[in-house]
Amino acid sequence: MAEAARIDGKGFADALRARIAGHAGEFVQATGRKPGLAVVLVGEDPASQVYVGAKARACHEAGIASFEHRLPAETSEAELLVLVERLNRDPEVDGILVQMPLPNGLDEQAVIAAIDPGKDVDGFHVINAGRLSVGQEGFVPCTPLGCMMLLKDRLGDLSGLDAVVIGRSNIVGKPMAQLLTDANATVTIAHSRTKNLPDVVRRADIVVAAVGRPEMVRGDWIKPGATVIDVGINRLPPTDDKPKGRLVGDVAFTEAAAVAGAITPVPGGVGPMTIAVLLRNTLVAAHAHAGLEAPEGL
Ligand code: GUN
Repeated sequence: MAEAARIDGKGFADALRARIAGHAGEFVQATGRKPGLAVVLVGEDPASQVYVGAKARACHEAGIASFEHRLPAETSEAELLVLVERLNRDPEVDGILVQMPLPNGLDEQAVIAAIDPGKDVDGFHVINAGRLSVGQEGFVPCTPLGCMMLLKDRLGDLSGLDAVVIGRSNIVGKPMAQLLTDANATVTIAHSRTKNLPDVVRRADIVVAAVGRPEMVRGDWIKPGATVIDVGINRLPPTDDKPKGRLVGDVAFTEAAAVAGAITPVPGGVGPMTIAVLLRNTLVAAHAHAGLEAPEGL
């Protein structure tokens, strides 16, 4: 069988960002202001600093105003909640993202609950999770929505396909399973207690791996021709030729690519989609706040 097609998440995300930039320009024409995203980072987690910097840059390139709030790790929950309340009331702010994980001692669920659901562009608030689960419109978490865009672009109609989602997090696994169910796939959620995971995965036409374990999904778990979406971004220990350590996904890429019909690479697959969808959600929020119809085709 031929090598799997590479699903070009980077290219898809670049095209989406270009469309968003066009719509953001039209939004400025219509309202006299840019769509705005507030990003809150508490503490100095290095990976989170990289993500927050990337989000600010992406906003700038898309014509979205970015308001960064970097707070020390000692920030109290009360102080953080005061900031969230201020951002809820700020008419320049359409979306609020509090970077996770929060430092120990800060209750993530309490902070998420304080965000105005109409500004919750991460889709983490229970109101938005509830809307997704009953089929109402709301904000959908960025990574699973980005995965869904890639799947629909690749496969078109997903009706009747067998999908396995590995991982049951609130951020990825659960909303991913919901989106696949809504698209009429037959969905299995697998996790660390699943019995005989390789056999469960072998049944799947669609595999979404979101466990955070480097190269856990092996090539001989993949049904020939399946579509494989790898959400994992794991850094391997440094070696002589890769002193920073190689980035790998949750799927053993070379093995899986020999069997799959299509597969996302790491990096350059799902990762770039997350930020593009964050910009999309912010643009949608801005239109709602301005009383405008959201643009089509996002
Ligand atoms: N940490 C890792 N991914 C995310 C994300 O999508 N949103 C937020 N707020 N924090 C994260």
